[in-house]
Amino acid sequence: MFASFMAWIDKRLPVTDAMNKHVLQYPAPKNFNFWYFFGSLAMLVLVNQIVTGIWLTMNYEPSGDGAFASVEYIMRDVDYGWLLRYMHSTGASAFFVVVYLHMFRGLMYGSYQKPRELLWIFGMLIFLVLMAEAFMGYLLPWGNMSYWGAQVIISLFGAIPIVGEDLATWIKGDYVISGATLNRFFALHVIALPLVLVVLVFLHILALHEVGSNNPEGIDIKKKKGSVPEEEHSKFEFHENYKNKYDIVDAIPFHPYYTVKDIMGVAGFLILFCWVMFFYPEGGGYFLEKPNFTPANGLKTPEHIAPVWYFGPFYTILRVIPDKLLGMIAMFAAIGMLFALPWFDRGTVKSIRYRSKWHLINLIQFAICFIILGILGTLPATDLANLIGTIATLGYFGFFVALWFYSKNEDTKPVPERITK
Ligand code: HEM
Repeated sequence: MFASFMAWIDKRLPVTDAMNKHVLQYPAPKNFNFWYFFGSLAMLVLVNQIVTGIWLTMNYEPSGDGAFASVEYIMRDVDYGWLLRYMHSTGASAFFVVVYLHMFRGLMYGSYQKPRELLWIFGMLIFLVLMAEAFMGYLLPWGNMSYWGAQVIISLFGAIPIVGEDLATWIKGDYVISGATLNRFFALHVIALPLVLVVLVFLHILALHEVGSNNPEGIDIKKKKGSVPEEEHSKFEFHENYKNKYDIVDAIPFHPYYTVKDIMGVAGFLILFCWVMFFYPEGGGYFLEKPNFTPANGLKTPEHIAPVWYFGPFYTILRVIPDKLLGMIAMFAAIGMLFALPWFDRGTVKSIRYRSKWHLINLIQFAICFIILGILGTLPATDLANLIGTIATLGYFGFFVALWFYSKNEDTKPVPERITK
């Protein structure tokens, strides 16, 4: 009965074909490792955010008078409201952990290089929208850090010449951050940006499946059987599922191999996630900041305004530059550099395993600078912090500049033809 039902559907909508092409039979390189868990985990967290978000919205009140109290009501009186809220707030931090690791994998294995530039650009657009989504979501509990965090960031736009002040007022929908600001942030956070995110993730996956996945060896698996002479076929292992179908060397079907592998990743992730959610939901003040347990108060600035940890690196770059406008330009440039990464890297060898030691050192210093910038972003801006932050900012931008210079004639190791590890 099911088969005939599916046949009926398939004549009208190619569901089986699409499932085979994009999931079950998707030819994936056979050497995916730990770092390949994070794409599927990012999807899991996205679904978690959307589902828990819908349920939170059922009891949340998007108004200056009611928002803070409605969150307290969700935490204390709504059945399992505390669970929904902690799933959502822990999910926000988990999203960035997962996405940062996912991006770092791309850096290590050169997954942004030709022909995956567009896939990378979609990823960067996702990252940008995700940051906007998190920023707007953070205002919604209407705690004092929500208020002042938004105040600091929106006032940055005031530094733009000529239109700045008007732009900041336009974003706020008022002369100060008020219920009107909260209302529009709510609209953007619950519907506009999630829609954009979902569409972008869809395009991200389509672009990935068009060019095929990269892998830890950085070797192209898209070798058609037809391109290999008949007499040499015995040298290649064509997975039985692919015979005469995809004819791709060194690939295995996504199902069951990677569905099972990804379930392992999900299990590991959920253990960590549940531990944080049940035993450590405030994350030591990093996931839920202390001043946010008191309501927004325009007359009482928190002693030390700090963004949530995941904005830390970009916030530090903004802060170490004394001029507000230049700081903002540097902050956006830091994100812009990542967008342009496929063109900064002029090398042809993808994986860190076969690139020069200079590239290894450059990537490690970049990762260290990024972490230092992140830590500094949550600490008060002392002279020492500014000095270290300036050095780390130079290291951050230096990564791209150095890459552009050495990647053209890099001293790389020979890349194997086939995947062996
Ligand atoms: C909501 C956020 C995201 C989701 C749900 C998502 C999902 C995925 C999935 C499922 C894959 C295939 C499995 C894997 O390779 O791990 C993938 C691959 C990839 N993603 Fe993302 N992604 C997200 C954000 C990003 C971001 C922010 C970037 C970088 C700017 C990025 C860059 C890439 C690249 C380069 C690949 C190909 C990796 C390779 O083949 O080696 N993604 N993504």
